[in-house]
Parts: sequence; structure tokens; C-alpha cells
Amino acid sequence: MKFTCRNNFIYKPVLLLLCLTFDACISMATHVISAGQSLSGNQTITSPSGIFELGFFTPGNSQNYYIGIWYKKLSPQTVVWVANRNQPVSDTSSSTLQLFQNGNLTLLVQSKTEIWSTHSMSTVSHSTVAMLLDNGNFVITDAFNSSVVIWQSFDHPTDTWLPGGKLGHNKLTKEKLSLTPWRNPQNPAPGLFSFELEQNGTSFWLFWNGSKTYWTSGYWTGKIFSLVPETAANDYIASFTFASNENGSYFTYASAYNDTFIRFMLEITGQIKFYVWGKGFTQWTLIWMRPNEQCDAYATCGAFSICNQQNASLCGCLPGFEPKVPKVWKLKDHSNGCLRKTPLQCNDVRNSTFLVIHDVLHPVNSESLTVENIEKCRLACLRNCSCTAFAYDNQCLIWKGDLLNVKLLPSEGKVGKDWHLRVAASDNEYQKIGSTSKIKRKTAWIVIGVLLGFTFILTIVMILVRRRQSAGALETVDDYLVLFKYRDLRRATKNFSEKLGEGAFGSVFKGVLPDSTAIAVKELKSLNQGEKQFRNEVRTIGSIQHINLVRLWGFCAEASKRILVYDYMPNGSLQSLLFQKNPIILDWKARYNIAIGTARGLAYLHEDCRERIIHCDIKPENILLDAEYSPKLGDFGLAKLIGRQNSRVLTTMRGTVGYLAPEWFSGEAITPKADVFSYGMLLIEIISGRRNRQGLDEGLESFFPIQVTNIVTKGEDVVTLLDYKLEGQADKDELTRACKVACWCIQDDEKDRPKMREVVQILQGVSDVGIPPIPQFLQRLNENPIEATSSQETICTSNSSA
Ligand SMILES: *[C@@H]1O[C@H](CO)[C@@H](O)[C@H](O)[C@H]1NC(C)=O
Ligand SMILES: *[C@@H]1O[C@H](CO)[C@@H](O)[C@H](O)[C@H]1NC(C)=O
Ligand SMILES: *[C@@H]1O[C@H](CO)[C@@H](O)[C@H](O)[C@H]1NC(C)=O
Ligand SMILES: *[C@@H]1O[C@H](CO)[C@@H](O)[C@H](O)[C@H]1NC(C)=O
Ligand SMILES: *[C@@H]1O[C@H](CO)[C@@H](O)[C@H](O)[C@H]1NC(C)=O
Ligand SMILES: *[C@@H]1O[C@H](CO)[C@@H](O)[C@H](O)[C@H]1NC(C)=O
Ligand SMILES: *[C@@H]1O[C@H](CO)[C@@H](O)[C@H](O)[C@H]1NC(C)=O
Ligand SMILES: *[C@@H]1O[C@H](CO)[C@@H](O)[C@H](O)[C@H]1NC(C)=O
Ligand SMILES: *[C@@H]1O[C@H](CO)[C@@H](O)[C@H](O)[C@H]1NC(C)=O
Ligand SMILES: *[C@@H]1O[C@H](CO)[C@@H](O)[C@H](O)[C@H]1NC(C)=O
Repeated sequence: MKFTCRNNFIYKPVLLLLCLTFDACISMATHVISAGQSLSGNQTITSPSGIFELGFFTPGNSQNYYIGIWYKKLSPQTVVWVANRNQPVSDTSSSTLQLFQNGNLTLLVQSKTEIWSTHSMSTVSHSTVAMLLDNGNFVITDAFNSSVVIWQSFDHPTDTWLPGGKLGHNKLTKEKLSLTPWRNPQNPAPGLFSFELEQNGTSFWLFWNGSKTYWTSGYWTGKIFSLVPETAANDYIASFTFASNENGSYFTYASAYNDTFIRFMLEITGQIKFYVWGKGFTQWTLIWMRPNEQCDAYATCGAFSICNQQNASLCGCLPGFEPKVPKVWKLKDHSNGCLRKTPLQCNDVRNSTFLVIHDVLHPVNSESLTVENIEKCRLACLRNCSCTAFAYDNQCLIWKGDLLNVKLLPSEGKVGKDWHLRVAASDNEYQKIGSTSKIKRKTAWIVIGVLLGFTFILTIVMILVRRRQSAGALETVDDYLVLFKYRDLRRATKNFSEKLGEGAFGSVFKGVLPDSTAIAVKELKSLNQGEKQFRNEVRTIGSIQHINLVRLWGFCAEASKRILVYDYMPNGSLQSLLFQKNPIILDWKARYNIAIGTARGLAYLHEDCRERIIHCDIKPENILLDAEYSPKLGDFGLAKLIGRQNSRVLTTMRGTVGYLAPEWFSGEAITPKADVFSYGMLLIEIISGRRNRQGLDEGLESFFPIQVTNIVTKGEDVVTLLDYKLEGQADKDELTRACKVACWCIQDDEKDRPKMREVVQILQGVSDVGIPPIPQFLQRLNENPIEATSSQETICTSNSSA
């Protein structure tokens, strides 16, 4: 019994007809199911070259059977498509996958009950055939003309996208081609995530339970994935293309290699992953994924859980909670989340209590309340049964309902802000947690006591030393801020004589403290704020500390005087180093470090500090350089000081033409992406060593951002963009990355701009970007070179939306 239909003959109608006349031929044609035929039990069909196989399979230790497609030669079995995701069958011998004459492929149990069907129908009356192709596509075509496709699995992807497939929207059938992961390794039913093209858009997003969560594409069209360096350095294995025409809007990719299997899939964890199996490989190699860390995937651990990237098991339930469905939780299916061990009894406030959890990134969707202290915040939470947690840090935040995305901070990012989780007071388990931690607490208290003792002695010594040095002693607030006396600052700045600069919020003077510490003293203008409120805001700013942010040392609030004291930056601002006649020329390495450091500082403001802060005025003047030319962002958080009532003033004060994102003029909401835009403009200036707006008067062609985007999109030599003072001395790869990322940052639609964290990754070479399109606003500038400043009301402070 040998194969009588040669594989390549099957496509030829005449020979197929011949074959159909011999029964033996039909049963042996192992890559087709002809009309009237069916597949059952352990029968399978394979693609012509034996790459893919289709038939019943059992995932993991499951008792269920599904129709699927997998790589025939690769082990362990890797399933790329599943037909009956939601309707498993328990017995394969009584189940048949049957193709009807009209092109309707149906999975039947006991030859009659429909389990799953393609519901497809040929519009012509001929016979039909279903076959598995070598690209993994399972197609139903007209039996006499294989280019008439009636139905194909590529139009109904499950969790995997294969080369040749499409993802996006089919405008003709109105079908959405998106990926949804399996529920768990034993259950291919769709999970809560999906990877899909946004409505009418050109960007792919990761969705969770129907809501957009993580932006994944837009800036990675083009050739992006390079094979692991050992196998093919600087070579690309696939290119992505986004196309939109009358038929649809799709992402497709093409592989550059014949003998390499590649697949792109949405994992159970909510991450998209790109895998390769090259020649000589013994397993799939992961070469790219988003988000990079599982804990960054939205709700990856489900409700009332905590994600710890450092722990191999990642997901755990919050104290007092347990997995809702332990059986699937063990399979890493966290979609059901965790459940209270003891339900809350809300009738009596004494029935619940709060458990303090340290070092966590707060979940999303908090509400802020205006109450003045932590006790009132606590009570506000207790009084509402749906309140599940609260936090107090100058403002009261409460959470209602499901807590999603609680994340344990990595050790270097710990800020120690307390988060209070509501649990049942009667919970035995909680009591246990309380008692065990009491012991730890006792040792902790001893340690703290000893430390405090030391600190106390040290402080006394320091105060005594300082006393001896200066007449006025320094009072500290919150142990990181110094409360200065006005007369001491006047003395330190020699009556405010040495002016360092003038910013939107006031003038900055150099000062020297009696212990010869240099300081920068900023005298704020137009503040009608009470002292108490001012102190609170200043404390918030003082608590924002990062290596790439200028540190606030202290402040002064006497009568109407409002002064901030910062670390003095010996190398001034980037503005003077880049644009002014300066004997020091920053070499490329220094510039690249400044670009990365600035991006890190901004990423911290946007994402990592408790209150998200939009800087709103990124420009070379606000990038200060320490003794090692390491960049530190200045002027952040000050918008808060001005207050909401003065927001109109704020908008006109903030932002500098040439760095402002289009949304400042269009009146759309300002998000951290406005900073990304300004950062892009700044990056272009770091590269070119000249002001962007310099060319604006001479016509659009010489407007530098236009030149940059033109050269980058055409793939021309980016060295021509480099500051002539560097005489072409730059790392070409870094320069190319910097140019590309700058162009992505200045895209019109904020959604197309990367997040600052992504910018850092791209600059570090951890991830790559595609070729950016030319931003539209550059074209518009042609018509109206200086767009008028506007007066929309915007607050450049916290933005709690995800
Ligand atoms: C398929 O099933 C039949 C009957 O159940 C069995 O005899 C045969 O060995 C199986 N074939 C394979 C390849 O497992
Ligand atoms: C396909 O077959 C199933 C099961 O027999 C049936 O319910 C369905 O109506 C058919 N659809 C078409 C379009 O023929
Ligand atoms: C097959 O169908 C295609 C598309 O409908 C048509 O262009 C082509 O002529 C057909 N080929 C044959 C041999 O009928
Ligand atoms: C998407 O496009 C369609 C047709 O062009 C339009 O009817 C619809 O309103 C658009 N939807 C959005 C969200 O823009
Ligand atoms: C998903 O959303 C629906 C409503 O859109 C809601 O009823 C359901 O509880 C959500 N599921 C989870 C797990 O949050
Ligand atoms: C759109 O689809 C039609 C019919 O399938 C096809 O003839 C045409 O070439 C397609 N257009 C593009 C731009 O792919
Ligand atoms: C890939 O396949 C094409 C045609 O199938 C062939 O011309 C080409 O040489 C192959 N390339 C490699 C790298 O094997
Ligand atoms: C990791 O998480 C598990 C489950 O939450 C927990 O039992 C274990 O103690 C954790 N291990 C570490 C090292 O944190
Ligand atoms: C908690 O609620 C239950 C039921 O309402 C009540 O019987 C019990 O006394 C309450 N416990 C406390 C500590 O208030
Ligand atoms: C508790 O919060 C829910 C949800 O925000 C709200 O609908 C309800 O009115 C609140 N109840 C009380 C007593 O404030």
C-alpha cells in the first residue's frame, strides 16, 4: 500500500479527477480530505512536504481531544491551530471530521451531533477538497481549482501566527484576525488576552477582557527580528509589513529562510513571543517578546494576586487570599485570580482590618479622595464595602473591587510606600501571618533602634559641627529635606548675585553653604500658596529621587518667599554645551550616555514613581550635567506647586515652542507621550548639535527634523546628520538607533510614540525598531510655520490612567 497520488499532482485538476476514480487513491492521499470523506481516531493528514500534520490531539494530561495542526517532525508536539477550542470531544473513534460536498467541514460525534463546523459553503456547485499546505494553512477549495478558496484556517488564527498568515481586519468579510492564547497548557479554550489591531488603526495592542492594555506595535514595522548572533549576525530572519488596502488592514511577515521554522504567538501569560527553530536546533528559541517581563503583562496573575518577577512561580495570592480555582492555578492559568479565604463582613467596621504591604507597585484604577490624614482615608475605605485597599501619601487613594496588577518592586526600585489591604479581622490565616511577622518585627525593631541610635548620635555630631561652622542650624524635614532660613540663603548666594539661569518658574542662583557645599537656589515666582500646602508639595518632590533627576535638597518658606534648594551641577546645562561656543565638545559616547540617562529619568517620572509626573518642558536647558557629565533632569514636579487654579498660566508658561507635541495645540489631553515628543526633538539636537528651530525660517527643507526623518525613512547615511564638530566620529549603530527612535518619538499620534522605558531599551540595543514614517505635523508646519500658543487647561502633574 503505497502513496499513489504524488504530492504535487494533487493540485492538478485532471490528475485529481483520475485519482478520484480509485478508492485506494482517496484513502491514501494523506494531505487531503475529499468531499464526502472524514477523519477519525488516530488518522491524520500531512502537508505535502511533511512539515505539518492535522488530526486529533490531546493537550498535556487532559482527557479531551481536539482537532489541531502541529509540526510533524518537531518534538515535543507544538500545536499551531485548534479547530474546536471550546468544544472538546472525549472519544476519537466515534468522532469524525467530515467534509460535505458543499465545502462545509464539520466535526460530528456519533455521526450526527455537530461539535464544530466551518459553516462554509462553495458558491459554485462543484465538489470541494480540504487540504493542509506546507505553510500550515488548512484550506477548503474547489476540487477543480485550488485557487478558489472557500475557507482557510489562516483566516481563523488561534494563538499562533505563521509566515504567510495575516493579522488585522478583513474589510470584505468584516472579520477580525486576532490571536487569543490558550487558557492553560491543557485547555486550548480562549483566555482573556488578545492581540489585535485597534479599530481603524495601524497599531497592535494587547487586550485584556476587551480593554486595550499594552501597546505593542506601530513602531516595529520593517525588518526587525535578527536571528541569535551565533547563527547569523546582523541578518534578518523575518520582515514585518503593514498593509492597508480596499480588502483590509493587515500585518504580515515574511521569513528570509526556508529551512527555519518561525512562529509568533500569544502566550497564556499575556505576552507575545516570537520563536525560531533553525537548522540543528533541538528546541524552540525565544528571540523576542513583549512585554519583556511577565509582571508587566496586564492582570497576568489575575485579581487579588501579587506578581513577583524575582520568584520563579511569579504569581501568588495576596495575604488572606487563595486561588479561586486551585486546579487551574497550578497549571499557571491565573485568569480566575484569587478569592478571600474569609469573606468580608461589612456590617461592622470592626470586622475588617488592614494589612500593610510594602514595596509594591500599586494596582491600577485607584480613586483619590480629599481627606487630610491617613486615619480619615482608612475610615473612608472601611465605610464602603466595595473598598478593598487604600494608600495615603499626602493624598488618599482607595481601590474598589478587584485588585489587578499588584507588583512587587524589584529591589533597586523599592520606595517603601505602604499599601493597606483590607482583610477580614477574624481570618485565622491572617492571625498567623501577624504572629510570625511579629517575631520578625521584633528583630526589625531592634535593628531600627540601633540604627536610630547611631543616626541620632551622628545627627547631633553633625549639627554641632554645622553649628560651629555657621550661625544658623539646619532643620530637616522628613530626614531628606533641609528647611533653610531665608537669611542663610541670602548669605550663601551673596545676596542672590550669581545667576545661573532663568526658567519658567523663577531664577536660579549659585550658592555656597558654610561647609563649602555648592547649591543651586531657585527663587519661585507667582506663588500664592499657603505655607502648609507648599511644604506638602515640596515633600512630594523631595521624595522623587533618581540618579537622573536633580535632587531637591531643601526649601525655604518664609512670609511670601518660596525657595527651592537643589544640588549644584558643575557642568551646567546641555544647552550651553551643545549650542554655545564652548571649549568642551561632547563626544558621541558622552552624548549617547546623556540620551540614555535622560530617557531613564523620564521613564522614572512617567512610570516608576508613585505619582506619575509629566515633565512638560523637556529641552536642553533642563538637562543638567554633573561632574561626570551624567545627565540629571531638572524642573520636574514644579507644575504641582503652581496648583490647579493657575493651570491656564501654567500652560503658557510651560513648554517651549520647538519641543511641544502637536496635542498641545490640538487641545487633546496631555499624557506622558507629550514628553516623549519633546524628548525626540531633544535627541535630534543632541545628534546635530544645533537648535532644531534654527532652520525653520529658511524653509522647510532645512528644518532639521525634516532632514532627519527624510534620511531615516529613505535609509540614507545617517552620519550626514551628525554634529559636524564630531567629524563623523560616532558609533554607526548607536547613531542609527538614536535617529530612528527620535523619529518615532515625534510621531503625530501619541500612540505611535514609544514609552520612555521602550526608548531606553531601544537605545541600549535590547530591542530594535523599524523604519518610522514621516510625521504629518512636519508637513503641516509648512503651511503654518509658527503655530500659535494656546490656552487650553492642562495640568502637568500626575496622571493616574494606565
Ligand atoms: C490507530 O488506531 C488503530 C485502531 O485503533 C491501531 O490499530 C493503530 O495501531 C493505530 N495507529 C497508530 C499509528 O497509532
Ligand atoms: C454545515 O454543516 C453543519 C452540520 O451538518 C450544519 O449545521 C450547517 O448548517 C452547515 N452549514 C452550511 C453552510 O452548509
Ligand atoms: C481558477 O479560479 C481563478 C479565480 O477565480 C480563475 O482566475 C482561474 O481562471 C481558474 N482556473 C481554472 C483552471 O479554471
Ligand atoms: C471605523 O471606520 C468605519 C468605516 O470607515 C466607521 O464607520 C467607524 O466609525 C470607524 N470607527 C472608529 C472607532 O473610528
Ligand atoms: C470581563 O468583563 C466582563 C464585562 O465586560 C465582566 O463581567 C467580567 O467580570 C470580566 N472578567 C474579569 C475576569 O474581570
Ligand atoms: C482585493 O481583493 C480582490 C478580490 O479578492 C483582489 O482581486 C484584489 O487584487 C485585492 N486587492 C489588493 C490590493 O490586494
Ligand atoms: C529557498 O527556496 C527558494 C525556492 O523555493 C530557493 O530558490 C532558495 O535558494 C532557497 N533559499 C535557501 C537559503 O535555501
Ligand atoms: C515564591 O512564591 C511562592 C508562591 O507564592 C512562595 O511560596 C515562595 O515562598 C516564594 N519564594 C520566594 C523565594 O520568594
Ligand atoms: C463580625 O460579624 C459577625 C456577623 O455579623 C458578628 O457576629 C461578629 O461579632 C463580628 N465580629 C467582630 C469582631 O466584630
Ligand atoms: C461604595 O462604592 C460604590 C462604588 O464606587 C458606590 O457605588 C457606593 O455608592 C459606595 N457606597 C457608599 C456607602 O459610599
